[in-house]
Amino acid sequence: MLEWMPDSWRSKKAEHIPYYDDQDDLHRVEQKLRKYPPLVFAEESALLKAKLADVCNGKAFLLQGGDCAESFDDFSANNIKDMFRIFLQMAVVLMYGSGLPVIKVGRLAGQFAKPRSKETETINGVTLPSYKGDNINGYEFTPEARKPQPQRMIRAYHHASATLNLIRAFSQGGLADLNKVQEWNLGFVKDSLQGELYKKFAQSISETLAFMSACGISAGNVPLVRQTNFYTSHEALLLPFEEAMTRVDLSTGDWYDCSAHFLWIGERTRDPECAHVEFARGICNPIGVKIGPNAQIDDVLRLCEKLNPLNEAGRLTFIVRMGTRKVYDALPLLIRAIEKEGLKVVWSCDPMHANTLTTNEGYKTRDFEAILSEVQAFFDIHRAEGTFPGGLHFEMTGKNVTECVGGIQAITPENLAKNYDTLCDPRLNACQSLELAFLVAEILKSKK
Ligand code: PEP
Ligand code: CO
Repeated sequence: MLEWMPDSWRSKKAEHIPYYDDQDDLHRVEQKLRKYPPLVFAEESALLKAKLADVCNGKAFLLQGGDCAESFDDFSANNIKDMFRIFLQMAVVLMYGSGLPVIKVGRLAGQFAKPRSKETETINGVTLPSYKGDNINGYEFTPEARKPQPQRMIRAYHHASATLNLIRAFSQGGLADLNKVQEWNLGFVKDSLQGELYKKFAQSISETLAFMSACGISAGNVPLVRQTNFYTSHEALLLPFEEAMTRVDLSTGDWYDCSAHFLWIGERTRDPECAHVEFARGICNPIGVKIGPNAQIDDVLRLCEKLNPLNEAGRLTFIVRMGTRKVYDALPLLIRAIEKEGLKVVWSCDPMHANTLTTNEGYKTRDFEAILSEVQAFFDIHRAEGTFPGGLHFEMTGKNVTECVGGIQAITPENLAKNYDTLCDPRLNACQSLELAFLVAEILKSKK
């Protein structure tokens, strides 16, 4: 590999990274973070890479999801627990549909930095810098809040650390026990049609577990029944933070970004010659890249060359976000080019980011039907190409929000104001997430 250091990206063009007025403070923060304990361990990231290699080989399925932007204010045990429960519900439903293990990767414990299409926001004639995520500036529409503050990175570290602590406890300490599959149904989901459907589904899992237990396979002697592996991910946008969290793994001599298990590069920063790709090429974590409708064959080949020169399965995931109409035209050409070169990538579908629209009332929303139809298109295309549709990437929450329209709850544009809570993009609420999981499970079953 060409020479690389955690700071090599600094010699490249770096977009969507804020300029901090107080450079001394920035350096103090970076120094501090360098000394902080890693949030995740190299071996854990390596294990995730091995599991993603299974996805690449058609032997497992990836579910990635969570908030568009996590929020310091919304930070609470209940929110984390609800997200974890809806995630587990979706995962068992998809596992059932695909007949494959589902690799769980949350957009959480560090999803704080946002690229924005517009540098500024204007409200009632006042123009201020756009909100860029809680580790960069504040959401409140005041000049003070919108100023990038290095100290926010320290807060982001501590929020991520506490979130991860709870997630680790939930994963290993009982909440993920398959015997509790009935308890994952969230209070407000219970009375919905999906809740009912889930209840029946959970009952049949419980019966199977009782049978397995009678055969001698139970939570008591098979840890997999009572534990799960849950991994973290976020967009590696704020490179001063990511650089400061990068450590050498002493057992292998490899560099890992220890802020999360999996890092992805956004659609706006994936230029192979620019800073974000330069940073990502040197870390050994599994890496994702968002692929929008304008991506060219040369772009994806160059990304493979830069980010996965050894052509390792599991190293690189392309997260395709094109919109239903464009995905039918653009994706087959990319898949064929990758197949022709024998390159190993995981193909995942993000049906959220090319399906955003703004209502007359000014709410950013997404239509459940459009999301589903992009997922359907993704599966259709892979079936036609003979390749494996490896995973799904959602913006979702365990909360009962009204941000996306449609679904069985039939949320209308007029209803959005009821509980519109996101700091950035609209998320599927818990009912819509579960509904989608059931529909995807049907698609997966029909394709077996
Ligand atoms: C995101 O995942 O929140 C995002 C900004 O996506 P994209 O880079 O695909 O636009
Ligand atoms: Co988003």
